[in-house]
Amino acid sequence: MSGVVGSRFEGTIRSLGSKGFGVCDHPGGGVFFVPGTWPGDAGLFEITDCDKRYGHARLVELVRPSPHRLDPACPHHGFEKGLCGGCPWMFVSYEAQLREKERQVRYQLDRAGFSSTSTAIRSVMGSRAVFGYRNRAQFKTDGRTIGYVSPVTRTLVPVSDCPVLDGPTRALFHQLKGELPADAWLPGEGFAWNYLDIDSDTTLDALSLNRRRPFRQGNEAQNRIMKAWLKDRLHAEDRSVAIMELFAGSGNFTEEIAAMGFSQVCVSEVAGNAVLPLAERGLPGVTVVAADLFKPRTWADLAAVMPSPEILVMDPPRAGFSGLPRFLRMFPSIRTIFYISCDLPHFIRDVAQARKKGFSLTDLQPLDLFPHTPHVEVLGVLQKR
Ligand SMILES: C[S@@+](CC[C@H](N)C(=O)[O-])C[C@H]1O[C@@H](n2cnc3c(N)ncnc32)[C@H](O)[C@@H]1O
Repeated sequence: MSGVVGSRFEGTIRSLGSKGFGVCDHPGGGVFFVPGTWPGDAGLFEITDCDKRYGHARLVELVRPSPHRLDPACPHHGFEKGLCGGCPWMFVSYEAQLREKERQVRYQLDRAGFSSTSTAIRSVMGSRAVFGYRNRAQFKTDGRTIGYVSPVTRTLVPVSDCPVLDGPTRALFHQLKGELPADAWLPGEGFAWNYLDIDSDTTLDALSLNRRRPFRQGNEAQNRIMKAWLKDRLHAEDRSVAIMELFAGSGNFTEEIAAMGFSQVCVSEVAGNAVLPLAERGLPGVTVVAADLFKPRTWADLAAVMPSPEILVMDPPRAGFSGLPRFLRMFPSIRTIFYISCDLPHFIRDVAQARKKGFSLTDLQPLDLFPHTPHVEVLGVLQKR
């Protein structure tokens, strides 16, 4: 591996890594990841850290820009100290972003041995709104300023506005700014900031410092598309089929399943602030089981309610569901899985494990929930062979 921290080299970005950073070969050997660069960018880079296998660098001077670059719409966009970095792809066109998301999905599936002849990989579904789409955010405040923490510099970056927030969330953010300076928001000793979790339904008086709100899909319009996708897939099923839904949150998908008239639905979730309101709603045909699904001993509670599910719907957190093979052994009646995932590598790991248990990934729909970020949501159908 060439180079020491602080030294500079010239190069051209050849591709993007799985975290969305540009990948550049050092002329003397070694690979460097560079935030805020796109394939085709040629420039001068400075090494910020490196180990034996690879390192990170920053763009010092852009000599020849990628043709996909454009001026970012947000004044806080950037990767240096004092800039936000929360929308790391805002400096390229949305078409280029979508192409890259689709390429990542195809490349990673191909690498894991999923062939396009057995899996129908569909084109990524882009978001109609690329600004004003986000219905939730987590702000950090030190009682004097409010903003985001840059993923690159790990410092609190005060922001005056955030154009990706939807109308109500953005309005609430401006109200929060109006509360400053706020002694009640000063961080305790040893802490640099407090956090404020807000979403489009939050009101100023209902706001609590350092309190997580229940999970909610962050892009309402794209969430409607995900629900429609699931509905389409369930459409032909007999309404008496036994459906188990894991990681149900506040019932985002459960509502759709119940509204379709399925009479045997068992759903599970761990978060008390989501699962209790869901149980209290008493959706017809739905039994709610509070369980930490990462602990296999809790699955007995599910089996007590539904011993022989045929369809599994699951939408786990980023870590995926590594217990899936064991879960499938415990519930051999499962024949179809609808797997909604916010993390491609963990999705692929789980699907590869399910393949060993006799399942094939037959259909895959990538979808963009978060324009200007490398995030890609995938919706997969697995069928027992
Ligand atoms: C990606 S969210 C999906 C929620 C819901 N399907 C939706 O669309 O709003 C993942 C959910 O998994 C839940 N979760 C995280 N860890 C869990 C665990 N160990 N056991 C059960 N649920 C868990 C989270 O609380 C969260 O509600």
